[in-house]
Amino acid sequence: MSAPLMMDQQQAYPSLITALCERNAYTRVHCDRVCILATALGNALRLRPRDLEALRIASQLHDIGKIGIRDEVLLKPGRLTPEEWEEVKTHSIRGERIVNETFLTNRTDVAAIVRHHHESRDGSGYPDGLSGDEIPQSCRILSIVDKYDAMTSVRVYRNPMSHGEAMAVLHEESISKIDPMIFSAFAIVMSRNDLRTMRPQPSHRRAAARIAPVQYSAD
Ligand SMILES: [Fe+2]
Repeated sequence: MSAPLMMDQQQAYPSLITALCERNAYTRVHCDRVCILATALGNALRLRPRDLEALRIASQLHDIGKIGIRDEVLLKPGRLTPEEWEEVKTHSIRGERIVNETFLTNRTDVAAIVRHHHESRDGSGYPDGLSGDEIPQSCRILSIVDKYDAMTSVRVYRNPMSHGEAMAVLHEESISKIDPMIFSAFAIVMSRNDLRTMRPQPSHRRAAARIAPVQYSAD
Protein backbone atom coordinates (compact mmCIF):
# COMPACT_ATOMS: atom_id res chain seq x y z
CA MET A 1 0.00 0.00 0.00
CA SER A 2 1.36 3.44 -0.88
CA ALA A 3 2.09 5.87 1.96
CA PRO A 4 -0.49 8.49 0.81
CA LEU A 5 -3.24 5.85 0.57
CA MET A 6 -2.38 4.51 4.02
CA MET A 7 -2.52 8.07 5.36
CA ASP A 8 -5.94 8.64 3.76
CA GLN A 9 -7.27 5.49 5.35
CA GLN A 10 -5.97 6.40 8.82
CA GLN A 11 -7.48 9.87 8.51
CA ALA A 12 -10.91 8.64 7.43
CA TYR A 13 -12.21 8.04 10.95
CA PRO A 14 -12.71 11.72 11.93
CA SER A 15 -15.92 11.63 9.86
CA LEU A 16 -17.23 9.05 12.34
CA ILE A 17 -16.35 11.36 15.21
CA THR A 18 -18.20 14.20 13.49
CA ALA A 19 -21.23 11.92 13.07
CA LEU A 20 -21.13 11.17 16.79
CA CYS A 21 -21.00 14.89 17.56
CA GLU A 22 -24.10 15.45 15.39
CA ARG A 23 -25.86 12.71 17.35
CA ASN A 24 -24.80 13.72 20.84
CA ALA A 25 -22.38 16.60 21.55
CA TYR A 26 -21.58 15.44 25.10
CA THR A 27 -20.37 12.05 23.86
CA ARG A 28 -18.06 13.74 21.37
CA VAL A 29 -16.47 16.00 24.01
CA HIS A 30 -16.21 13.04 26.41
CA CYS A 31 -14.42 10.99 23.75
CA ASP A 32 -11.98 13.85 23.06
CA ARG A 33 -11.05 14.11 26.73
CA VAL A 34 -10.76 10.35 27.09
CA CYS A 35 -8.46 10.27 24.06
CA ILE A 36 -6.10 12.82 25.64
CA LEU A 37 -6.01 11.07 29.02
CA ALA A 38 -5.73 7.55 27.58
CA THR A 39 -2.87 8.63 25.30
CA ALA A 40 -1.08 10.19 28.28
CA LEU A 41 -1.57 7.07 30.37
CA GLY A 42 -0.60 4.70 27.57
CA ASN A 43 2.53 6.73 26.94
CA ALA A 44 3.41 6.67 30.64
CA LEU A 45 2.99 2.88 30.63
CA ARG A 46 5.38 2.62 27.64
CA LEU A 47 2.91 0.99 25.26
CA ARG A 48 4.44 -0.01 21.95
CA PRO A 49 3.82 2.61 19.21
CA ARG A 50 1.39 0.27 17.42
CA ASP A 51 -0.60 -0.32 20.62
CA LEU A 52 -0.55 3.36 21.55
CA GLU A 53 -1.91 4.32 18.12
CA ALA A 54 -4.73 1.75 18.39
CA LEU A 55 -5.54 3.02 21.89
CA ARG A 56 -5.57 6.63 20.69
CA ILE A 57 -8.05 5.90 17.91
CA ALA A 58 -10.16 3.51 20.00
CA SER A 59 -10.46 6.04 22.80
CA GLN A 60 -11.92 8.53 20.35
CA LEU A 61 -14.28 5.93 18.89
CA HIS A 62 -15.09 3.87 22.00
CA ASP A 63 -18.66 5.14 22.25
CA ILE A 64 -19.33 5.39 18.49
CA GLY A 65 -21.88 2.58 18.88
CA LYS A 66 -24.14 5.01 20.76
CA ILE A 67 -25.12 6.26 17.31
CA GLY A 68 -27.37 3.20 17.24
CA ILE A 69 -29.10 3.83 20.58
CA ARG A 70 -32.58 5.37 20.51
CA ASP A 71 -32.89 9.06 21.50
CA GLU A 72 -35.34 8.33 24.31
CA VAL A 73 -32.71 6.10 25.87
CA LEU A 74 -29.46 7.87 24.92
CA LEU A 75 -30.74 11.31 25.91
CA LYS A 76 -32.93 10.29 28.84
CA PRO A 77 -32.17 12.68 31.73
CA GLY A 78 -33.20 10.32 34.54
CA ARG A 79 -32.45 6.80 35.68
CA LEU A 80 -32.67 4.09 33.01
CA THR A 81 -34.96 1.08 33.34
CA PRO A 82 -33.27 -2.36 33.25
CA GLU A 83 -34.45 -2.79 29.64
CA GLU A 84 -33.05 0.62 28.63
CA TRP A 85 -29.77 -0.17 30.34
CA GLU A 86 -29.51 -3.42 28.36
CA GLU A 87 -29.97 -1.36 25.19
CA VAL A 88 -27.20 1.06 26.19
CA LYS A 89 -24.88 -1.88 26.82
CA THR A 90 -25.17 -2.90 23.16
CA HIS A 91 -23.09 0.15 22.18
CA SER A 92 -19.79 -1.69 22.61
CA ILE A 93 -20.75 -4.40 20.11
CA ARG A 94 -22.32 -1.85 17.76
CA GLY A 95 -19.08 0.15 17.97
CA GLU A 96 -16.96 -2.88 17.19
CA ARG A 97 -19.10 -3.53 14.12
CA ILE A 98 -18.78 0.07 12.92
CA VAL A 99 -14.98 0.15 13.37
CA ASN A 100 -14.61 -3.16 11.53
CA GLU A 101 -16.33 -1.56 8.53
CA THR A 102 -13.81 1.31 8.31
CA PHE A 103 -10.69 1.33 6.16
CA LEU A 104 -8.43 1.81 9.17
CA THR A 105 -5.33 -0.31 8.63
CA ASN A 106 -5.41 -1.25 12.34
CA ARG A 107 -9.20 -1.66 12.51
CA THR A 108 -8.97 -5.14 14.05
CA ASP A 109 -6.93 -3.82 16.99
CA VAL A 110 -9.16 -0.77 17.41
CA ALA A 111 -12.39 -2.76 17.15
CA ALA A 112 -11.23 -5.19 19.86
CA ILE A 113 -10.58 -2.31 22.26
CA VAL A 114 -13.97 -0.78 21.49
CA ARG A 115 -15.72 -4.12 22.10
CA HIS A 116 -14.10 -4.68 25.49
CA HIS A 117 -13.91 -1.19 27.01
CA HIS A 118 -16.62 -2.05 29.59
CA GLU A 119 -15.17 -5.35 30.78
CA SER A 120 -14.42 -5.55 34.50
CA ARG A 121 -11.53 -7.30 36.32
CA ASP A 122 -13.98 -9.33 38.44
CA GLY A 123 -15.86 -10.56 35.35
CA SER A 124 -18.95 -8.44 35.98
CA GLY A 125 -18.52 -6.27 32.88
CA TYR A 126 -19.84 -6.61 29.34
CA PRO A 127 -20.24 -7.79 26.61
CA ASP A 128 -18.23 -10.97 27.25
CA GLY A 129 -17.67 -11.01 31.02
CA LEU A 130 -13.89 -11.21 30.61
CA SER A 131 -11.87 -11.09 33.82
CA GLY A 132 -8.33 -10.33 34.97
CA ASP A 133 -5.65 -10.61 32.31
CA GLU A 134 -8.19 -11.85 29.76
CA ILE A 135 -8.98 -8.16 29.33
CA PRO A 136 -6.45 -6.57 26.96
CA GLN A 137 -4.21 -3.98 28.62
CA SER A 138 -5.44 -1.17 26.34
CA CYS A 139 -9.02 -1.90 27.43
CA ARG A 140 -8.00 -1.75 31.10
CA ILE A 141 -6.38 1.64 30.44
CA LEU A 142 -9.41 2.95 28.56
CA SER A 143 -11.80 1.70 31.23
CA ILE A 144 -10.12 3.72 34.00
CA VAL A 145 -9.94 6.90 31.97
CA ASP A 146 -13.52 6.49 30.74
CA LYS A 147 -14.85 6.12 34.29
CA TYR A 148 -12.81 9.09 35.54
CA ASP A 149 -14.04 11.42 32.82
CA ALA A 150 -17.65 10.30 33.19
CA MET A 151 -17.57 11.00 36.93
CA THR A 152 -15.91 14.42 36.61
CA SER A 153 -18.07 15.64 33.71
CA VAL A 154 -21.05 17.96 34.01
CA ARG A 155 -24.30 16.14 33.20
CA VAL A 156 -27.87 17.46 33.25
CA TYR A 157 -28.92 14.92 35.90
CA ARG A 158 -26.08 15.28 38.41
CA ASN A 159 -23.24 17.50 39.54
CA PRO A 160 -19.71 16.46 38.56
CA MET A 161 -17.44 14.85 41.14
CA SER A 162 -14.22 16.60 42.08
CA HIS A 163 -10.92 15.02 41.04
CA GLY A 164 -10.43 13.76 44.59
CA GLU A 165 -13.90 12.23 44.80
CA ALA A 166 -13.49 10.46 41.45
CA MET A 167 -10.05 9.12 42.44
CA ALA A 168 -11.52 7.83 45.71
CA VAL A 169 -14.17 5.90 43.77
CA LEU A 170 -11.53 4.47 41.42
CA HIS A 171 -9.34 3.55 44.38
CA GLU A 172 -12.26 1.58 45.80
CA GLU A 173 -12.79 -0.08 42.41
CA SER A 174 -9.11 -1.02 42.20
CA ILE A 175 -9.84 -3.72 44.78
CA SER A 176 -11.91 -5.74 42.33
CA LYS A 177 -13.05 -3.97 39.17
CA ILE A 178 -10.13 -2.06 37.65
CA ASP A 179 -6.43 -2.87 37.25
CA PRO A 180 -4.66 -1.60 40.42
CA MET A 181 -1.27 -1.18 38.69
CA ILE A 182 -2.77 0.89 35.91
CA PHE A 183 -4.76 2.90 38.45
CA SER A 184 -1.52 3.68 40.30
CA ALA A 185 0.04 4.89 37.06
CA PHE A 186 -3.07 6.97 36.36
CA ALA A 187 -2.80 8.61 39.79
CA ILE A 188 0.82 9.55 39.04
CA VAL A 189 -0.05 10.93 35.61
CA MET A 190 -2.92 12.98 37.01
CA SER A 191 -0.87 14.39 39.88
CA ARG A 192 1.97 15.85 37.87
CA ASN A 193 0.34 17.81 35.07
CA ASP A 194 -2.64 19.98 34.20
CA LEU A 195 -4.76 17.22 32.63
CA ARG A 196 -7.30 17.52 35.46
CA THR A 197 -8.48 20.90 34.27
CA MET A 198 -7.83 20.59 30.55
CA ARG A 199 -10.29 21.28 27.84
CA PRO A 200 -9.50 19.38 24.63
CA GLN A 201 -7.20 21.34 22.34
CA PRO A 202 -4.66 20.11 19.77
CA SER A 203 -1.86 21.33 22.07
CA HIS A 204 -3.17 19.06 24.84
CA ARG A 205 -3.07 16.05 22.51
CA ARG A 206 0.55 16.82 21.68
CA ALA A 207 1.39 17.33 25.35
CA ALA A 208 -0.27 14.04 26.32
CA ALA A 209 1.92 12.20 23.84
CA ARG A 210 5.06 13.61 25.49
CA ILE A 211 4.36 12.60 29.09
CA ALA A 212 7.28 10.67 30.54
CA PRO A 213 6.90 6.96 31.35
CA VAL A 214 5.86 6.12 34.91
CA GLN A 215 8.63 4.75 37.16
CA TYR A 216 7.53 1.98 39.52
CA SER A 217 9.22 1.08 42.80
CA ALA A 218 10.03 -2.59 43.39
CA ASP A 219 7.31 -3.12 46.02
FE1 LIG B 1 -18.87 3.13 26.55
